[in-house]
Amino acid sequence: MTDSVKTAQPRLEQLGDYPFARLRMLLHELSPNPDLAPIDAGAGEPRLPLPGFVAPTLQQSMQGFSKYPPTSGTMPLRQAMAEWLQRRFSLRSLDAASQVLSANGTREALFSVAQALVNPEAGEKPYVLMPNPMYQIYLGAAVLAGAEPWLMPCTQESAFAPDLERVPEQVWRKTAFVYVCSPSNPTGWIADGAYYRRLLELADAHDFAIVADECYSEIYWQQRPVGLLEVCAQIGRDDYARCLVMNSLSKRSALPGLRSGCIAGDATLIARFARLRSYTGPATPLPLQQVAMAAWRDETHVERHLQVYRQSLRAFFEAYGEGTYPAGSFFVWLPVEDGERFARAAYVQQAVTLLPGAYLSAEDADGRNPGTNYVRAALVDGPEMAAELARRLRSIRM
Ligand SMILES: Cc1ncc(COP(=O)(O)O)c(C=O)c1O
Repeated sequence: MTDSVKTAQPRLEQLGDYPFARLRMLLHELSPNPDLAPIDAGAGEPRLPLPGFVAPTLQQSMQGFSKYPPTSGTMPLRQAMAEWLQRRFSLRSLDAASQVLSANGTREALFSVAQALVNPEAGEKPYVLMPNPMYQIYLGAAVLAGAEPWLMPCTQESAFAPDLERVPEQVWRKTAFVYVCSPSNPTGWIADGAYYRRLLELADAHDFAIVADECYSEIYWQQRPVGLLEVCAQIGRDDYARCLVMNSLSKRSALPGLRSGCIAGDATLIARFARLRSYTGPATPLPLQQVAMAAWRDETHVERHLQVYRQSLRAFFEAYGEGTYPAGSFFVWLPVEDGERFARAAYVQQAVTLLPGAYLSAEDADGRNPGTNYVRAALVDGPEMAAELARRLRSIRM
């Protein structure tokens, strides 16, 4: 065991344990109710059947395992991503070679983008803005890149929007980039056109970049989410200046194990990010790039998945009897008195695993943790299980 001061990384020490490690610690001395089949609503992992094209495509591309894959993705894959983005978001143009990159799942890309966009040698520590609660990668990325995270509270009062108008002028001036998550994990909030337009205005005024995490864009209750590139196209900003958008097959195609995502936007930022990535090397194996290409080109399975998620939401809320449907994503952000206590009770009484909201959030500038009084439940096992989950949550006694 090495415990050397020379190899310690103070920025890493600053980060707490990852939410799922905290969840394991929370539950490890407890036993789930042995009379009930366990329900794991803790992890946001889609559990739908594999789309039919996966196995045959993989079978035909096995030979690719004998080659190093290109980190940026093969040109046919980037082309398939560009075509999907153009179709889905009504873009006039998107050049696969200069405006699109493949990611090995977006988690790594959302992390490493901070290394490309934060100048650690700036005189004053730059800010990276993010929603709170948030996908925890944003926080780790900002801290490890040497930036100061600025947390934007997303509460019921603001309809879970990260309020741009509450960010002080001196913070905007030092902002390197802003993470937006739409649809949001965990609150389900969706950015509308006006929100993205205002953010673009602020980005131009204060010279910062926007990283939009749109991984849940294909999972929504009623209104199909608008995308950042789509808003750029609507206002004639066809170079997508200052914008990087990330999307993924993990949620859209229920293929989290494939590790395939895409990055698209501003050619200058893409070039800078591609250079960083040529060193870090997060390449998706070639046979998996082939499967990814098939997945970006097919909408049938995506429509099927959407129906299942909608049925699950409806089943959950009908059985639960109250609450607000999330506008997007497959998460229910459930208000409770104390998220940790509720998660423990759910496990012991009902064999249900939930994530305490506080594990997805942090104390903001007001000294408040907006996740403390919530739990997150992922509806990833279909409508019947969603209804069963709601009934069990209903019967928890605190
Ligand atoms: C908001 C959000 N962004 C990104 C990801 C990363 O997904 P992947 O790396 O599988 O593309 C997740 C996964 O849970 C997520 O919830």
